[in-house]
Order: sequence, then C-alpha cells, then structure tokens
Amino acid sequence: MILVTGGAGFIGANFVLDWLAQKDEPVINLDKLTYAGNLETLASLQGDCRHIFVQGDIGDSALVSSLLAQHKPRAIVNFAAESHVDRSIHGPEAFIETNVVGTFRLLEAAKAYWGELSGDDKTDFRFLHVSTDEVYGSLAKDDSAFRETNRYEPNSPYSASKAASDHLVRAYHHTYGLPVLTTNCSNNYGPYHFPEKLIPLMIVNALAGKNLPVYGDGQQIRDWLYVKDHCSAIRRVLEAGTPGETYNVGGWNEKANIDIVHTICKLMDQLRPRDDGRSYCEQITFVADRPGHDRRYAIDARKIEQELGWKPAETFDTGIRKTVQWYLDNQDWVRNVQSGAYREWVEKNYGRRAP
Ligand code: NAD
Ligand code: TYD
Repeated sequence: MILVTGGAGFIGANFVLDWLAQKDEPVINLDKLTYAGNLETLASLQGDCRHIFVQGDIGDSALVSSLLAQHKPRAIVNFAAESHVDRSIHGPEAFIETNVVGTFRLLEAAKAYWGELSGDDKTDFRFLHVSTDEVYGSLAKDDSAFRETNRYEPNSPYSASKAASDHLVRAYHHTYGLPVLTTNCSNNYGPYHFPEKLIPLMIVNALAGKNLPVYGDGQQIRDWLYVKDHCSAIRRVLEAGTPGETYNVGGWNEKANIDIVHTICKLMDQLRPRDDGRSYCEQITFVADRPGHDRRYAIDARKIEQELGWKPAETFDTGIRKTVQWYLDNQDWVRNVQSGAYREWVEKNYGRRAP
C-alpha cells in the first residue's frame, strides 16, 4: 500500500480517487483536515476497505511512525501543505509549521522506517514530494520557461516554505540516501478545488452574482494544468522516476489571469446564462494587487515528457469546460465548503481591496 498525506485536499483527494479507480493497491490517507481538507470529496470511498483515512498531522512524529510500522507502505506521497499564497501573506506561520517543520518530521519518520527495511522493500521504497513551480520565482515576459535546473528564487512566504521543504527532501537523499522524488507543478484546476483560488472563486462568485475580483491589471500569467493530468504525472514519476531527481510538471498552457476570467464568463454565458441575459463579464472588478505578486510562471515539461513519456490528456479548452460544468453540477459541495470560516477569509482578503 501507499501512504498519501493531504489526501483530503484538492489535488490529494483527486489523486486518491483516481488511484483507487485504477488500482486495487490500498491507500492510507493522513490528513489534518484544516480548512482546506474536506471528507465530502472522498464520500464515494465510504465503506471501501482500500481507503484508510486517518485524521492527523504530518508533524506528529509518533503518529506517522506508528502508521508506517503498522501498514508498511512501499511509498509516501506528500501532498500535505498550506497552499494558498494570499493566506501566507496574512499569516505565514502555519506555512512554516506544516511545509517546513512538518515535511522535516515526515522525512525523519520516513528515514527511520526505510532504514529498517531490507532487500527489495528497501530498494523499491519511494518518498515522493509534491511541490510547486513557484519556488523558481517570477519570469519576465520573454524569459524561457522554468527548467529543473533553474535557481530557486521564491518570493512569497508560501513559495519560500515550499522551497525550504524541497531543499530538505534533496538533502535527505544526498546525505542519507533516502530514495526521494520531487515534482514541481504549475497551477492546477479542476473538480473539488476550494473556492479561494482563482478559477473556482470566479465560478462560484459569478453564480452568486458577486464581483469577480481581478488583482492589479490582470496581466499576470500562470501555466494551467488539469488536476487529473497532475495525478497521472505523479503516478508516472512514482513508477519510473529516478531517485534524487526532480521533475517539472506542466501543461504548456500559459494564460493571463484576465483571459482566464473572460473564458470562464463566456463558458458560463453558454452553460448557465444570467437571468437578465447579460454577460457574467459585467461582474469583473479590478481590485488592489497582491503584495509581491509574481508576474509570470511557465513550466518547461520536456524532462518528464522525454524521460518518462508523460503527457497531459487535456487541453485548456477541454479542461476548463469540464471544470465549469463540474461546479454547475455540484452546487451542494460548493455550498458545504462555504462555511463561516470561508466567509471570514473572504472578508479578510477582499474587504479592503476596494476597486
Ligand atoms: P490544499 O490546500 O487543497 O490541500 C492541502 C491538504 O493538506 C488539506 O487537505 C489539508 O487538510 C492538509 N494538511 C494541511 N496541513 C497538514 C498537516 N500538517 N498534516 C496533514 N495534513 C495537512 O492543497 P492542494 O492544492 O491540494 O495542494 C497539494 C500539494 O500540491 C501542496 O503541497 C501544494 O504546495 C502543491 N501544489 C499545488 C498546486 C495548486 O495549483 N493547487 C500547484 C503545484 C503544487
Ligand atoms: P491563485 O489561484 O491564488 O494561485 P497562485 O497565486 O498560487 O498562482 O491565483 C492565481 C492568479 O490569480 C494569481 O496571479 C493571483 C490571481 N488572483 C486574482 O486576480 N484574484 C483572486 O481573487 C485570486 C484568488 C487570485
């Protein structure tokens, strides 16, 4: 079996659902259930003995060690993290706790467990760390896309904490020989995405008749990957990646934020027209920019394509259509994640960003 951390979050839950749809290999899912973790996403696995959910912290060494001793996983896939840049600006400490200290403790527990293995169990063990393209910093308009060899230049507390965790993972390979793999992925989108991030927030706000808050001039560029393509990349790296290597994962889909918002509005105009017949584009509002806002991210995914034969299945056009449709079809899930804590966050982040 494998141990997945953060498997009740956006990407982790998509990964667990896809994994169990394709294989019978069981998953232990360790998740703290922060505001971003949601068991409703995993409801279809209720009663499925291949999925063992444990609520807990990757920084709880005793818990992690006992799970490893009890279940003897052949791999750990670490998704658990604080993941939202805006939240890291308002309150960086949780990012240091989970992304840096938590990853360190998880590595320590993994090292101790792996050290006791022998034969094929030891050779075949993998620690796969899921990271982000944001560790490479911001690109100018004409710069080449990020390669695995780019210098780390993180600019937000979030990306700095992920960079620190990547360095620890690298050091555990170099120093102790732990068989680690690191993936650095671009922005994901798709089903079960918490509506604090750009794409789900715009869909949810549009439907609720609210403003669509675009930071700054909206010309910042992100490189979008459909979440299920990210999951297939992780499965491929786990299966065939070389220990100690890092793999950039992206879909060659660079888009300016304002273009993403227009695309969503136009799709919604078709799929769920406004009662007054006007376009959702009328709800777009430019608001104060994010401090330290990175201008452009872009992933050069040639290494994973050439060495491991991975390619994304979705184009941006197909992926964004599926995503908008999913949110239209899953309004109950959306309603249930918009708790009091969510509303407090919206007030904190947008309350003082008057247009
Ligand atoms: P998310 O915020 O949706 O989910 C994170 C999950 O981790 C939640 O279920 C949360 O409860 C859990 N968690 C948080 N702290 C924990 C702790 N201390 N112990 C155990 N569980 C804990 O994040 P996501 O978007 O699914 O991202 C998953 C991973 O992928 C993160 O490491 C993130 O940095 C990375 N990543 C995300 C993106 C993206 O676009 N979302 C892109 C590249 C990389
Ligand atoms: P986000 O989804 O938070 O991902 P990240 O910051 O990790 O790339 O934001 C994506 C882009 O969208 C980023 O440039 C910030 C911008 N953005 C807005 O313009 N308005 C918003 O309300 C949000 C949440 C993001």
